[in-house]
Amino acid sequence: MRQPLLELAFQPLDSSDETFAIGLARHVFAAWSRDAGRTAFAMLRAPGHVAEVASTAGERLGFYVLSSRRLGRPFGPIVNPVVAHLDAIAVHPRAEGQGVGGALLEQAERRARALGAVVMSLTTAVGNSRAQRLFARHGFLRTMKTSRAYANDEDAYEMFKAL
Ligand SMILES: CC(C)(COP(=O)(O)OP(=O)(O)OC[C@H]1O[C@@H](n2cnc3c(N)ncnc32)[C@H](O)[C@@H]1OP(=O)(O)O)[C@@H](O)C(=O)NCCC(=O)NCCS
Repeated sequence: MRQPLLELAFQPLDSSDETFAIGLARHVFAAWSRDAGRTAFAMLRAPGHVAEVASTAGERLGFYVLSSRRLGRPFGPIVNPVVAHLDAIAVHPRAEGQGVGGALLEQAERRARALGAVVMSLTTAVGNSRAQRLFARHGFLRTMKTSRAYANDEDAYEMFKAL
């Protein structure tokens, strides 16, 4: 994978980052959510989630939110697998196209593997070709389509990657 153009640091997303994360979510997810800020707030407060912020020289550029759980039944030869879901990934518009999204995604995958996850899923709007290119480049496969998954009635692709 290409190296990001910026020197990035990743930090757990704590309460001091919430204004940044909720503000960014409100901006970039507005098309798909009635209240993207509130959704992001709920996601960040959900028990068991992992969230990290990417920054360069102290300037926050983006974040991801990940959740994981035990499937509770065997999956093929795996007796009690952990599955992960990427709940959100966002990069500030001024930092797009420099590898920050790719670096956040790779960091989310590392964290999911560290939690024991064998697969990561995500949901993305059919019209969000920029995000789909990012996910495809990192090995996510498009599977089923979910009808009218968003507040704007847009359909979604479910994407998966074996970790
Ligand atoms: C989708 C999103 C996370 C991508 O973030 P990003 O930081 O722009 O992602 P990257 O920079 O890693 O990749 C974007 C482009 O930059 C290019 N790029 C990546 N690293 C690069 C580098 N080192 N040098 C030059 N270009 C680079 C990639 O090739 C890619 O090009 P492409 O879109 O033509 O395929 C971001 O656009 C975003 O936050 N969108 C709004 C929220 C959203 O839709 N989230 C996903 C919901 S499921």
